[in-house]
Amino acid sequence: MWFGLRAAAIGATSAVTLLVSAGGASAQGQITVYCSVQEEWCRPMVDAFEKETGIKVAMTRKSSGETYAQIKAEAANPKGDIWWGGTGDPHMQAAEEGLSEEYKSPAMAQLHDWAVRQWTQSKGRTVGIYSGALGFAYNTKQLAQKGLAAPKCWADLLSPKLKDEVQVADPNSSGTAYTLLATIVQIMGEDKGFDYLKALHKNINQYTKSGAAPAKATSLGETTVGITFMHDQVTMIVDGAPMKAVAPCEGTGYEIGSMSIIKGTKNLEGAKKWYDFALSAKAQAIGGQAKSFQVPSNKSTPIPPESPNLAEIKLIDFDFAKYGSSAERKRLLAKWDAEVKNLPK
Ligand code: F6P
Repeated sequence: MWFGLRAAAIGATSAVTLLVSAGGASAQGQITVYCSVQEEWCRPMVDAFEKETGIKVAMTRKSSGETYAQIKAEAANPKGDIWWGGTGDPHMQAAEEGLSEEYKSPAMAQLHDWAVRQWTQSKGRTVGIYSGALGFAYNTKQLAQKGLAAPKCWADLLSPKLKDEVQVADPNSSGTAYTLLATIVQIMGEDKGFDYLKALHKNINQYTKSGAAPAKATSLGETTVGITFMHDQVTMIVDGAPMKAVAPCEGTGYEIGSMSIIKGTKNLEGAKKWYDFALSAKAQAIGGQAKSFQVPSNKSTPIPPESPNLAEIKLIDFDFAKYGSSAERKRLLAKWDAEVKNLPK
């Protein structure tokens, strides 16, 4: 599925300049964007959209699961217009629960198949905007100081030598951590997968709210190992962090970061403009410029050279329909809460 993605993007139009505004910045209304990527990418995206369309944006940044919960809580009186970014599973759940609007953008033809599949599976209510593989990273200095062997596999993270040395987010708030939960269950089967997560719990020093936080903590040596999407590790590594990113030997899951228009938006036209803009080649290039190294869903946006090469990573055949379904996501999260989260160490 991934083979050729990189090649397809190489040679595509590069030197993408932002903010070339045809229409100018006349007052065209306002939209509220719920942003679930890193703040460092949310902000330049908002700036570029405002310059392009003249529409003002009120933006809030929250993790994927948190944003889903907020949209659900606000369903009777929606306050947001568009949800941009975050892992696909809560977007799929929102679609199934009627919390998002159906929309077919004219830009659909420009997208990779995996992004369109997300749209088809959700009956037109969410679309893929980027992709990236899950993995872990370790702090090379901490590892050397502690005299530990470099972990290469998910199994290595259970070593008693890593007690309190591993960090990951809480899957209720974080799409990254839910991707870990769904990945482990798909690789090992549910019973063995939960055994694994319970054993891993002994080594966890903190379940963070945001999925990318453990990458930052690993870069600072606050934890020896952080489980995050690999592109979030690369953001730290390009800034010189003493860190190594690992694609686990057993194989790993990945995300299709998604976007949805919020059901009942009072600014449907503005929300559609954001949606179309966010799928365009030039808007998707903003990610790489903001050191967010996901693989863009627009075929013409060059993949940043720093992005982990998904064609070289052993990716599982992730069942997005099943693990993004409302019943399965609720069930797995409740089971993780009951059986893993509060286990004594
Ligand atoms: O922007 C970084 C990122 O890892 C995205 O690729 C992903 O969709 C999102 O954060 C997940 O964040 P969280 O785990 O906090 O929901």
